[in-house]
Amino acid sequence: MSDTKLLLSDSEIKALDAEYCSWGDTVHYHDEQTIFRNCEGSYMYDSKDTPYLDLQMWYSSCNLGYKNKRILNAVIDQYQTMPQISSRFVYDYKALLAEKIAKANLKRYGLKGRVQFNVGGAQVNEDMLKLIRNYTKKPRMFAFMGGYHGRTIGTTAVTSSYRYREHFGHISDTAHFVPFPYCFRCPYEKKCENCDLYCVKQFAKLFESEYHGVYDANTRDCEFGGFIAEPILGTGGYIIPPKNYFKELKKVLDEFNILFMVDEVQMGCFRTGKLWAMEHFGVKPDAMTFAKSITNGMNPLAGMWAKEELINPKVFPAGRTHSTYAANPIGTRAGYEVMSIFEEQQEVLEREIARKGEKFLEGLKTLEKKYKNIGTVNGLGFALSIEVTEKDGFTPAKKLCDDIIEAGLRGNLTYNGKKCGLILNNGGYYKNIITIVPQLYITDEEIDMALELIDQLFMRFAN
Ligand SMILES: Cc1ncc(COP(=O)(O)O)c(C=O)c1O
Repeated sequence: MSDTKLLLSDSEIKALDAEYCSWGDTVHYHDEQTIFRNCEGSYMYDSKDTPYLDLQMWYSSCNLGYKNKRILNAVIDQYQTMPQISSRFVYDYKALLAEKIAKANLKRYGLKGRVQFNVGGAQVNEDMLKLIRNYTKKPRMFAFMGGYHGRTIGTTAVTSSYRYREHFGHISDTAHFVPFPYCFRCPYEKKCENCDLYCVKQFAKLFESEYHGVYDANTRDCEFGGFIAEPILGTGGYIIPPKNYFKELKKVLDEFNILFMVDEVQMGCFRTGKLWAMEHFGVKPDAMTFAKSITNGMNPLAGMWAKEELINPKVFPAGRTHSTYAANPIGTRAGYEVMSIFEEQQEVLEREIARKGEKFLEGLKTLEKKYKNIGTVNGLGFALSIEVTEKDGFTPAKKLCDDIIEAGLRGNLTYNGKKCGLILNNGGYYKNIITIVPQLYITDEEIDMALELIDQLFMRFAN
């Protein structure tokens, strides 16, 4: 694909961006920009047709691979039948997709429920917060330190980073933030081998006395309506909690009538090898949200599922939330196809993601042994991470992490004698964690390639 055939050259795009695009989104977190022109399977391609193995996949929005033919064909068909319909009306694929999700949750969690759509992760999290406030009449929420739920005013109130709120004045209902079980950097400086989930005990202590600020033991009334949780921190650095953490936490929530809201926006859609990541932890949500990969990145669509008690039409009647483009027909059609694929391929996906995820993690463990600058590596299915540190194996090394990621994006690595690039992302409390998010159909050969390229990058910069 030569530059001359393209609508705009790379430098023309950059010039327009410099003059006309707001820099208030996240593009200019980075000084250098790689301009991409095409995508397919596990790869993005630049103007010179250099392939970049993508281990970011649009922040886990394209789990079934770029230009997935089956989803593409479904969307094309929808464009040719009914591409537009006002959200004033119900129609086939909206109802069918809601049914698929409701039945998937009935099967997994034994709970009957309903689904409401919206256009993005933040919007459905807003809807979920409204649902909980509507039901409990309580505006206050618990949320995790390190959690991320979006950047609208409402969702920054339950997202722990102050950075996302600091320029917008006081947000009155900011959540009470609870430490996430980030065992490599335990907030209580315990060792997970023998901590006996000290963090849950600390949370439970909040309810011991009214003087701890959340609960009145005399009236048995808690000021907080719900707890919003990602099963695994996404933006927070792909931090995986201990297996029985949520079970123990949920016991406390149940005791004090606090509803459990699960945000599956990033970790859902088989990222971890299960449809929903919370399935690994043996607890049931009262309400949950999904977005990103539900359309494989083909159209903005997101949804909130809640159990019947919270969302039945008597309790949550017409008009409690609305957005013009919610449940748009291209999005629901893509979502229906994605869910059909998940249903048909569930067994294979579960088996292969577990196997390949383990293989990837083993490869990362080998790199951990090789480089002092890798503090730890972690993974559940295809939610993988490398914690980049100073040579002491602990002090976060953000600059080194940035150098590695930026070098991958320059597209001058080589694999089997051919030029290529590597797309990685960073996250974590100190932005020193490389998060590894391959498409679910990544091949064994591509995993070998990924490990080799990561090795090349560490070899350039690290010890
Ligand atoms: C866990 C989680 N929740 C919510 C969001 C917000 O979704 P959106 O960017 O579609 O608003 C994100 C986005 O990264 C996310 O990772």
